[in-house]
Amino acid sequence: MQTTELGRTGRIVSVAGLGCGGSSRVGLGRGLAPSECARLVRLAIDNGVTLLDTAEAYGTEAIVGAAIEGIDPDHLTISTKSRYRDGSGVFPAERIVANLHASLRELKRESVDVFHVHAVRPADYAYVMDEIAPALEAQKAAGTIRHIGITETPPNDPRQVMMTRAVHDPVWEVVMLAFHLMHQLPRRLVFPTTQQNGVGTLIMFAVRSIFSRPERLRGAMDELAAKGAIAATFAESSDPLGALVEEAGAKSLTEFAYRYARHEAGADVVLFGTGDPAHVRQNIAAINAPPLPPATLEVIEGLFGHLTGVGLDLPDHMQRAPR
Ligand SMILES: NC(=O)c1ccc[n+]([C@@H]2O[C@H](COP(=O)([O-])OP(=O)(O)OC[C@H]3O[C@@H](n4cnc5c(N)ncnc54)[C@H](OP(=O)(O)O)[C@@H]3O)[C@@H](O)[C@H]2O)c1
Repeated sequence: MQTTELGRTGRIVSVAGLGCGGSSRVGLGRGLAPSECARLVRLAIDNGVTLLDTAEAYGTEAIVGAAIEGIDPDHLTISTKSRYRDGSGVFPAERIVANLHASLRELKRESVDVFHVHAVRPADYAYVMDEIAPALEAQKAAGTIRHIGITETPPNDPRQVMMTRAVHDPVWEVVMLAFHLMHQLPRRLVFPTTQQNGVGTLIMFAVRSIFSRPERLRGAMDELAAKGAIAATFAESSDPLGALVEEAGAKSLTEFAYRYARHEAGADVVLFGTGDPAHVRQNIAAINAPPLPPATLEVIEGLFGHLTGVGLDLPDHMQRAPR
């Protein structure tokens, strides 16, 4: 497993991080029992993963807690999150602090390595900065949080308005953002600043649905071709990226997409979400594989570099309840 430094946190982490949310939620999303989910988490750790990302909202903190029991806390970097709002409005800071303490109990830890404010919308950013960030700094001083982070909400903020602001505020030591081969905005908007300011980056949506469910990719290609955003030939193909994947020597589109995200300058850790043990092994191998050939990267930038808002879907269980 290759490792990297997570920005100015100084933590050395695996370049492949296990995402315990998304549609899969380490198997909960496909009906696995919590004990089977914990085995999947343990499989990732046994294969070299040292960064795990969970959240109160995913219902997987206790699974992570069970999987990491007995492992030296210094060996792992555990990232979790609290929501800061629901349909009726924003939460007072005390509620986020209460959530942090609930997370500590679920994880069976005395401190959280990276604690994020979850899915922050642009319109709420000032509230999060003014009300929540100071409360998290106080928790950091008290030792219950090691590093403070913030995550964006790609389906609600496809142009990364919140993240583009957040990367300039020093309170956030780690950020979580979407980046993939048809969503290249962070190369211009985010990575130059995170690299300059030493902000650690956790990449989500590297594969998501668009690069794991062939019908989603075909649907997106049809839509983009109809708008004239990509060549019409993409809409006519049953395997629109097949030729590119083959030319690059990748075994699958998911491998291709993880390798693409992993080697972007400024991308520290690529999170992968899955409920399938075979995918755990495949994805770790993909994220540790060499970069795609330079000629392929050039083609991807030329074809898709101008796109916005592609492949940024809500997870299955939230499709009818967007936040
Ligand atoms: N706002 C936020 O803070 C936020 C939002 C979204 C995500 N996240 C974090 O980011 C993590 C990563 O996002 P994500 O879960 O969407 O992960 P992802 O790795 O981009 O995509 C995962 C999807 O691809 C499938 N997949 C994975 N490996 C595969 C393979 N080798 N072959 C075929 N299909 C494969 C998975 O299904 P299988 O179960 O079948 O493998 C799953 O449906 C989340 O788990 C969560 O921790 C945070």
